[in-house]
Amino acid sequence: MRVLSGMRPTGKLHLGHYFGVIKNWLKLQDEHETLFMVADWHALTTGYKKVEEIPQNIEDMVVDWLSLGIDPQKSLLFQQSKVKEHAELFLLFSMITPKSWLEWNPTYKDTKYNLLRISDLELMFKGGVRDLVREFLAKLPYKVEDFEALEEFFLDALSDTLIQSVFEGYIERDLLRELNVSKRDFYDTDTYGFLGYPVLQAVDILIYKANAVPVGEDQLPHIELSREISRRFNNLYGETFPEPQAMLTETPKLPGIDGRKMSKSYNNAIYFADTEEELRQKVMRFFTDPKKLRRGDPGRPEICPVFFYHKIFTEQERVQEIERDCTAGKLGCVDCKKLMFEGLNGFLRPVREKRQEILEDRKRVWEILGVGSERASLMAKDTMEEVRERIRVG
Ligand code: TRP
Repeated sequence: MRVLSGMRPTGKLHLGHYFGVIKNWLKLQDEHETLFMVADWHALTTGYKKVEEIPQNIEDMVVDWLSLGIDPQKSLLFQQSKVKEHAELFLLFSMITPKSWLEWNPTYKDTKYNLLRISDLELMFKGGVRDLVREFLAKLPYKVEDFEALEEFFLDALSDTLIQSVFEGYIERDLLRELNVSKRDFYDTDTYGFLGYPVLQAVDILIYKANAVPVGEDQLPHIELSREISRRFNNLYGETFPEPQAMLTETPKLPGIDGRKMSKSYNNAIYFADTEEELRQKVMRFFTDPKKLRRGDPGRPEICPVFFYHKIFTEQERVQEIERDCTAGKLGCVDCKKLMFEGLNGFLRPVREKRQEILEDRKRVWEILGVGSERASLMAKDTMEEVRERIRVG
């Protein structure tokens, strides 16, 4: 079985990436033929205005892959944009992909306006919009069949209107600045390339005839589209591509230091590039049970992000002790965090050291990608010869 996955180069990786993706890649590289791709053309679909960051982001990301144990002896690591055949197949697939398949793609619909969707709007108006819609719907003189769906529908329409009102200048700039949003951002993804994002992803998978694609749940529609494109191509021109399967792994969402899902944009992430001191400070800033104000107050480990980490990084016998002592009000949050730091740092220290080693020879990173991309090119070239013959052009 051939397994392929890709990651957009957004820079340094954090713990969330490890538990969500890399941990799984490590297991797969021991069991299957694996190809891991730096999706730098995909990075352009949303980041075409900030291209100067891309090379550094690629390097940072691959340094982390290697530090975490992705092994170029076991896996083929390559850079999408170095295999030009992707661009050719992207063009050919774009000929046979119905526009509607792309317009219905939920990641397209959601991300197109991702910078000011409901969550941000809610933040902006502190839930007022939802309340307002509810109040309004309650006053409707009709029986509402599905209240929640209608509410979402209204919120969607309202958010679109609000986005438009930003363009028209009705919403104060200060508010947007507070949210770190500028008018320019709205145009970011309203492009032909972004609409075609999943077509390019289908190319990444199919050009190597990969059978399985380990991805997060959010990527399922893209894998489905790859299967549809594969079927359509095969129906039109003869059996050429396999139908790739998505491989999902259950991964609980790792909380960041503020208890929300770990994410670069929330500014709550723990990076493999963090120094020991940075890590210590982050651990000490962790959110805990908000009701546990003093050392002697009983805490609720089940809602505490620090305890979530204990469960992963602290020895199991200690974990039960910590749970008991916290609940009984015998363990203060500061001490609890110090214990957690020890476990977490124990996990991160070797990664940090490996990272340092790799950073001393950065050229290696690019060599690995270069060699990998050449090998990938050979595979892609084979597929393209077959494709050109079938499609009678090229
Ligand atoms: N779209 C994927 C993501 O954002 C990245 C990606 C690009 C990918 N090409 C791929 C994943 C091919 C799997 C297979 O996570």
